[in-house]
Amino acid sequence: MSICYMKELLKEAEKQGRAVGAFSVGNMEMILGAVKAAEELNTPIILQIAEVRLPHSPLHLMGPMMVKAAKEAKVDVAVHLDHGLKISTVKQALDLGFTSVMFDGSRYDLAENIRLTAEVAAMASRSGATTEAELGVVGGSEDGSENHEIVCTDPLVAKRFVGETGVDALAVAIGNAHGHYVAAPKLRFDILKQIADAVGIPLVLHGGTGISPEDFRRCITLGIRKINIATANFDALTEEAGFYFQEPGSHNYFKLNEAMVRGVYKNVKRHIQIFNNQMPLDQIENA
Ligand code: 13P
Repeated sequence: MSICYMKELLKEAEKQGRAVGAFSVGNMEMILGAVKAAEELNTPIILQIAEVRLPHSPLHLMGPMMVKAAKEAKVDVAVHLDHGLKISTVKQALDLGFTSVMFDGSRYDLAENIRLTAEVAAMASRSGATTEAELGVVGGSEDGSENHEIVCTDPLVAKRFVGETGVDALAVAIGNAHGHYVAAPKLRFDILKQIADAVGIPLVLHGGTGISPEDFRRCITLGIRKINIATANFDALTEEAGFYFQEPGSHNYFKLNEAMVRGVYKNVKRHIQIFNNQMPLDQIENA
């Protein structure tokens, strides 16, 4: 077990009727917490970092740590660039040994999105890496700085996009949004089914934070094979660190480190149990 290509994990998940959790990380503690949960549940995961997070967590420092953690893990781990915005960042991630990259060309018109995504897919495939792309508009924004209006993926356009770009996985917009939902999301399962029927490749659900366990499982039955969790992971770290600082007495980095690892570990564990699609939901702690 070691670092692996994301498409292998998604293929395996397809056979087993489950989805792979893709957990966003921003520091060493988050990597440690995520890998600990994956190893305990003997389940592969994806460690990912988005381009908008790089001002806080530089890629040249985070990348080698993520790759090394994946190589040493007791389960398969893919290392993924989430929402790559510039081709130069995608190239940097591939050079660092990332086994998967997402190119987010959603701000371009369709023709330009297809042209750039195909370029990224060709670049990634030269190192065997997996490519994910997004079509339609997922609401909110990865770091909360913008609030994109949701535009659901058109199944027929998705079919053309996948055929012309050669991507391995497609992120769909079906009413999902990044960050905290202001109201419970109403996912368009009908559109998800039409996209799955049209494209025939693994589908990705962004904006995992705040989607109910029941909706996750329904998405999985309809072809979602990768689910992104970012906000809940950052929140879990912050909350557990907050609990630690509320404890009486003096505080130190080492106990803070343990609290941060614990927060992420608990959050990742809960999501893996949901995504594995086996354990009854009422048996999952805090599901
Ligand atoms: P959340 O922040 O809503 O979990 O979304 C994660 C995501 O889709 C990252 O690309």
